Amino acid sequence: MKRYCRIFSVIVLLGALASVISGCGSGEEDRRQIIRIGHNQATDHPTNIALTAFEEYIESRLGDKYNVEVYPSELLGSQTDMVQLTQTGAIDFCVASNSILETFSENYTLFNLPYLFASAEAYHASMDDPEIVDPIFESTTKAGFETVTWIDAGTRNFYTVSAPIETPADLKGLKIRVQQSPTNVKMMSLLGGSATPMGFGEVYTALQSKVIDGAENNEMALTSNGHGDVCKYYSYDMHQMIPDILIGNCAFLNSLTDEERAVFEEGFQLINRVEREEWGKAVEAAKDKAENEQGVTFLYPDTALFQEICEPMHMEMLEQYPVLKPVYDKIQEHNAADASAGKEVLTDESAS
Ligand code: GCU
Repeated sequence: MKRYCRIFSVIVLLGALASVISGCGSGEEDRRQIIRIGHNQATDHPTNIALTAFEEYIESRLGDKYNVEVYPSELLGSQTDMVQLTQTGAIDFCVASNSILETFSENYTLFNLPYLFASAEAYHASMDDPEIVDPIFESTTKAGFETVTWIDAGTRNFYTVSAPIETPADLKGLKIRVQQSPTNVKMMSLLGGSATPMGFGEVYTALQSKVIDGAENNEMALTSNGHGDVCKYYSYDMHQMIPDILIGNCAFLNSLTDEERAVFEEGFQLINRVEREEWGKAVEAAKDKAENEQGVTFLYPDTALFQEICEPMHMEMLEQYPVLKPVYDKIQEHNAADASAGKEVLTDESAS
């Protein structure tokens, strides 16, 4: 009920904003169609930088018809709320973690598996491979939305307030925030910690008030979300590379003419490109700030210890969703190609 009230308030807010926007200015009514995109990152985050580039690109090509508005920082609600708003068409696009999408379509379970990708290179090659992503990205059209591009969100690792994680045994008895997905809860319990699912926006307060002992995420969470002010140990166990996903409302996408759709497709590719260019720089800067200003210690545990415990999840997922087997196998081809190219797999260097 609380969630529906929140979604309803967002819709009312959007209506009010639309009338303010169309009413201001030089007396001439702005008749352009507003395209709303919501996400949960801060304005200096690579995701927001990429979406702003999209806004500029679309308006430079189709600005007489469309007015793109990007809403950062959970202004339109949590990721789960925003996916529902996109499904109904109350907003047109949102960025959601692949983890969240698992509860909307079981196909997304695949990319949430721990240690699915053997390296960042194999991860990128897989996510750029239409044979892998298309069957998954198009699987939600009946539910009213589809994926238009993926967004790099690096590698997820454990970080804790006061107990350094060097082996899975160190997780025992600790309450660790995970994203709200059955795969993440399962992974956490296999590794021995107590999984505490909650939305991203609630994590800082939960850490500060000691409701949880730690969380797991990429390095940006330490700085952009301030988690490094509270958590002093970040351990590169490299358990997941979970992409963020830009989803679009199908009715909106289908309303575009072929020419407009081609411009939007260019724009989606631009988001992917710009975000990936920004990502490497942003992670470097985050590590530097975390280490030198927030006093976070980075640890490099033996990842094999964690990987071994999570391994049975692969087979279980394939038994539960046999339809995902061909896509899973294709990912293994990218893993093997990367290994035979002599790339280091999940080492200290690939983490830095
Ligand atoms: C990352 C990811 C977000 C996600 C968040 C989380 O920041 O980019 O999409 O919401 O992790 O842990 O919830």
